Amino acid sequence: MDRFLRPSGAAYFVVAAVFIGVLAGFPSWAAKNSAKANPGATQVAVAAVPAAPKPPAADQPAGANSATAHKETLARGKQMYAQYCASCHGDAGKGDGPGGANLAVKPQDLSVGAVMNPLPDQFLHRIIADGPQSVGLSALMPPFRPQLGDRQISEIIAYIRTLAQPAYDPTKVLPVTATREGLVQPIFFSHVIHTGSYQIACQYCHAGARRSSDAGIPSVEKCMGCHKIVAAQGNEQVQKLHAYWNKQEPIPWLRVFRVPEYVQFPHKNHIQAGLVCQTCHGRIEAMEQVHATTGQNHLNDLMNLAAMPVPGPKLTMGWCVECHRAVNEKGVQAVQPTPDAWGTAPRPATADDTKKRKAPLECVACHH
Ligand code: HEC
Ligand code: HEC
Ligand code: HEC
Ligand code: HEC
Ligand code: HEC
Ligand code: HEC
Repeated sequence: MDRFLRPSGAAYFVVAAVFIGVLAGFPSWAAKNSAKANPGATQVAVAAVPAAPKPPAADQPAGANSATAHKETLARGKQMYAQYCASCHGDAGKGDGPGGANLAVKPQDLSVGAVMNPLPDQFLHRIIADGPQSVGLSALMPPFRPQLGDRQISEIIAYIRTLAQPAYDPTKVLPVTATREGLVQPIFFSHVIHTGSYQIACQYCHAGARRSSDAGIPSVEKCMGCHKIVAAQGNEQVQKLHAYWNKQEPIPWLRVFRVPEYVQFPHKNHIQAGLVCQTCHGRIEAMEQVHATTGQNHLNDLMNLAAMPVPGPKLTMGWCVECHRAVNEKGVQAVQPTPDAWGTAPRPATADDTKKRKAPLECVACHH
């Protein structure tokens, strides 16, 4: 949990309390996971993670030379780190440099692998070149684009990777896209930061998913449970959150996933059957802005009405029905390649991926 120590000791307490709350809510999950010493270790790569970019030394000729080249890259990275970064982030990357001591948001402890390792190189590149505000974090660290070229930034990243504990594993980075997709929300709230990097469980914020029809969007109050302390000052986006809180107004989030009024979709039954969020929503933890690879498809719906099943794009009737047929025949395992997807613990005791399901195919179950 020491990855939460950065903002302040008090923030650690808040976040610890939050996690205890989450644990208390899900005893079976807690029992399963408490044996694991490091919460970061529970993170599992989901689906096909694209091969992480190789260290910059890879553009050198292969063979014995490349090992030397990689060493030289790290040496240059280390030197530039000492020159440009250590004043704030500290000599060993612990976030304890003198230049950061009085900042409202403490410089990241770059050695905390649990927080740093999921972030892909291009994400760190953006932070260093354009400043952390480019990903929603604080503007208290300046952009380094004028001083440092792309290659130099890559070398610094290669060096920073060596500081991480547990060690950086390029196969476990999040597939964050280089270009942001999806709706621009009133506050730039990043699932990459909250769930991908800080690993706050989905159901901590979307608590309705397992017990009601709607998964629910967290209230301003829920956000403030952390943000009265975490980045309370020095972050423009978090200031917007505070403004809503001060006005006692809800945040006008835009809806992304939605079925028409005449359709009933109950989250509860799906979560109880052991489906993970990612099976239907995609890898939200890798999305800076939530988006859906979906859309309504009338042709698809008509074909389903005519009993010509086609696996439809998500949220179409074809998609619902196709999955229902599959789980009834083969169980949830037929549709869910990654039962251990990130943030999905706690899966309920009712989750048995091999059990044949009784998902409805009759019209009235989905249309009242
Ligand atoms: C003036 C002090 C300062 C300097 C100099 C500085 N940083 Fe930062 N850095 C910060 C602060 C403060 C944050 C925290 C931003 C936040 O969490 O909102 C940060 C955050 C970061 C992050 C984001 C980590 C995360 O939370 O995902 C990275 C990566 C980073 N710095 C790398 C560097 C590198 C590399 C350099 C040198 C090229 C550098 N920083 C120089 C102050 C500084
Ligand atoms: C369990 C604690 C927790 C909760 C709850 C929480 N956050 Fe955060 N949030 C964090 C942490 C930790 C960071 C990283 C702070 C940093 O590095 O400076 C963060 C960063 C942010 C940032 C800056 C990075 C980004 O995502 O753009 C924004 C904006 C933000 N939170 C908004 C929200 C909103 C809105 C809510 C409610 C929907 C919320 N947070 C709920 C812990 C929390
Ligand atoms: C710190 C709180 C927080 C956590 C943790 C969190 N979310 Fe969210 N989520 C939000 C907020 C706030 C929104 C609305 C803004 C947006 O779309 O980004 C949202 C939006 C969504 C949406 C889109 C809702 C719509 O409008 O259709 C989905 C789907 C979603 N989250 C799934 C997840 C999944 C899956 C996880 C875990 C991997 C997760 N969330 C973790 C706060 C959170
Ligand atoms: C079987 C597919 C499926 C699964 C699994 C699933 N969702 Fe959804 N989700 C949907 C559909 C469909 C909608 C649109 C519902 C509507 O418009 O009423 C939706 C809507 C949402 C929304 C929008 C707001 C709301 O309250 O409905 C959020 C947030 C959300 N899901 C989060 C989650 C989270 C978190 C999980 C995992 C715990 C999850 N979902 C699992 C299909 C799924
Ligand atoms: C990825 C697979 C999957 C998708 C996609 C899916 N479902 Fe389901 N659905 C299930 C499973 C599994 C169950 C639980 C069956 C059981 O409990 O035996 C279920 C159950 C239901 C139920 C029954 C609830 C009850 O009261 O018993 C309804 C209604 C439903 N789904 C509607 C929908 C709708 C509407 C959509 C599309 C918007 C949808 N489902 C998409 C897998 C899916
Ligand atoms: C598993 C859930 C489910 C079942 C079962 C189901 N539907 Fe649907 N249906 C949907 C969803 C979701 C949509 C909305 C699709 C969209 O927005 O593209 C829909 C859309 C429709 C539409 C509108 C199509 C259009 O193109 O506008 C009609 C008509 C319809 N359904 C009729 C039926 C009939 C008749 C049955 C029984 C044979 C049935 N549905 C069974 C989920 C279901």
